[in-house]
Amino acid sequence: MSVIVNGLNVPLPADPRVSVLDLLREHLRLTGTKKGCNQGACGACTVLLDGERIISCLTLAVQADGRSITTIEGLADGDHLHPLQQAFVDRDGFQCGYCTPGQICSAIGMAAELERGLPSHVTVDLAATSISASRQELAERMSGNLCRCGAHNGIIDAIDATFFSKEAAQPYQPDLPEVAA
Ligand code: FES
Ligand code: FES
Repeated sequence: MSVIVNGLNVPLPADPRVSVLDLLREHLRLTGTKKGCNQGACGACTVLLDGERIISCLTLAVQADGRSITTIEGLADGDHLHPLQQAFVDRDGFQCGYCTPGQICSAIGMAAELERGLPSHVTVDLAATSISASRQELAERMSGNLCRCGAHNGIIDAIDATFFSKEAAQPYQPDLPEVAA
């Protein structure tokens, strides 16, 4: 049994209890993928499995048998960052950086989901074949990736600029209730 990680074929561990996260970090020393909660709550461990975002702490390595995993280490092209990585740098998408690999992998998977027309909790027209990548849609679709530094506005800016607007992204303006003077 084996799995392809960032283009390289690697054998799966004999112990069927090993998670994809522990395979990456402890067996392959790919420590870019972070362990936050180790129980599916924070999104820090998000990687791509055959192009779909997964929570690697809750996925057994044996489930990836014969499939392809992409981690943050597999996104750059040599010295050239993936456009979303560069956008995170340009738009203040991180502070400590702990959540960043998961944010970036999650956003790549999320953009593909949106492109396929998959609705989210805030999608108004569930039958629409094309869903607008509004700030609300992007924030909702990234809500499984927590950032304790509070860099969410820059994160959404970077995602929007990379995949959707291609223009200078405006700062995120949340819909807050009006406060009486
Ligand atoms: Fe996997 Fe938090 S470490 S969701
Ligand atoms: Fe520090 Fe997100 S940049 S947790």
